[in-house]
Amino acid sequence: MNVFITGVAGFLGSHLAEECLKNGHNVYGNDNLIGGYKDNIPKGVNFSNIDCNDYYQLNDIFKLNEIDILYHCAATAYEGFSVFSPNFVTKNIFQSSVSVFSAALNNNIKRIIFCSSMARYGEITPPFSEESIPNPVDPYGIAKLAAEKVLISLCKLNNIEWVIAVPHNIVGPRQKYDDPYRNVMSIIIHKMLKNESPVIYGDGEQKRCFSFIDDCISPLYKMMISKEANKQIINIGPDEGTITINELVNLCANHLGYNGTPTYFKDRPLEVKNAFCSSNKARKLLNYKTTSNIEKAILETSNYIKSKGVKNFEYNIEIEINNNLTPKTWKNKII
Ligand SMILES: NC(=O)c1ccc[n+]([C@@H]2O[C@H](COP(=O)([O-])OP(=O)(O)OC[C@H]3O[C@@H](n4cnc5c(N)ncnc54)[C@H](O)[C@@H]3O)[C@@H](O)[C@H]2O)c1
Repeated sequence: MNVFITGVAGFLGSHLAEECLKNGHNVYGNDNLIGGYKDNIPKGVNFSNIDCNDYYQLNDIFKLNEIDILYHCAATAYEGFSVFSPNFVTKNIFQSSVSVFSAALNNNIKRIIFCSSMARYGEITPPFSEESIPNPVDPYGIAKLAAEKVLISLCKLNNIEWVIAVPHNIVGPRQKYDDPYRNVMSIIIHKMLKNESPVIYGDGEQKRCFSFIDDCISPLYKMMISKEANKQIINIGPDEGTITINELVNLCANHLGYNGTPTYFKDRPLEVKNAFCSSNKARKLLNYKTTSNIEKAILETSNYIKSKGVKNFEYNIEIEINNNLTPKTWKNKII
């Protein structure tokens, strides 16, 4: 099949492209390289440096290559930062998704798989299940949920298959580690490798559930071929092994032999305290299995960062709302 992956230079998009190539598909993809890394793109991908907001170019590419399946992975996946740069973030979550969906629907693409986010659930009691009524609290989560609703409505009208993947805290090699605004585990490891104190917001007792990339690619890939997955919202990631940020910092320190202590900063506004999902539906529909643990994720991620080398953090996105609520770490560029 001809598969198109938006955000193919990103973490999930590049791993997914590799899996599709391995299974014999023709893989096309785009990225505007605002996040991700160009060298993430696997050999064999037919790559275009195009912004997802550019409906016309996408429309041409989908038509020219007779695309069958679309994975929409591109996003500015900034949950906490979306509170301070909502214009930039929602433009690349909501508006860009509508542009991609419209071009896909205009070309009768058979199935659209949209990577949403656990942020869609917001402030409800975990574990979040697909049946839960979402209550997103930040612009990122609100924009993801709005994009889902546009997708479902237009696919129903045009009789096109859709699947919504809800990944949560996926970690591993190729994840951007020099971005000060997101990817907590990669930042912690990167800081320790630089022999700098990792940053914790609040008391560090926030609970999360991390998933290693290898466990997530198979269910994501199955979303394109499984009949049962059609018209379903499905969480992707484990529901066992919740961990606090304090515990995560301790595990990383033990693994890397880092002897320093973390630096604590004020809570980040609107950060959800306990966020993890149920994987029952993914187990049932996509045969999801957790085979890796957090130690393996730390080992593989730190090997990856070591192989690429430590870097300066990139503060390349403007803070739109800069006031006394804006975390000092970002205002003063101290991560
Ligand atoms: N990794 C996770 O744990 C996780 C969790 C929840 C949701 N998600 C979702 O999964 C998807 C993939 O996430 P990821 O971790 O691979 O992120 P990523 O940042 O590594 O990849 C996203 C890619 O999209 C590109 N991009 C952003 N805006 C674009 C635009 N307007 N046009 C073209 N390209 C654009 C970026 O350059 C980047 O390479 C995203 O939709 C994200 O919201 C991921």
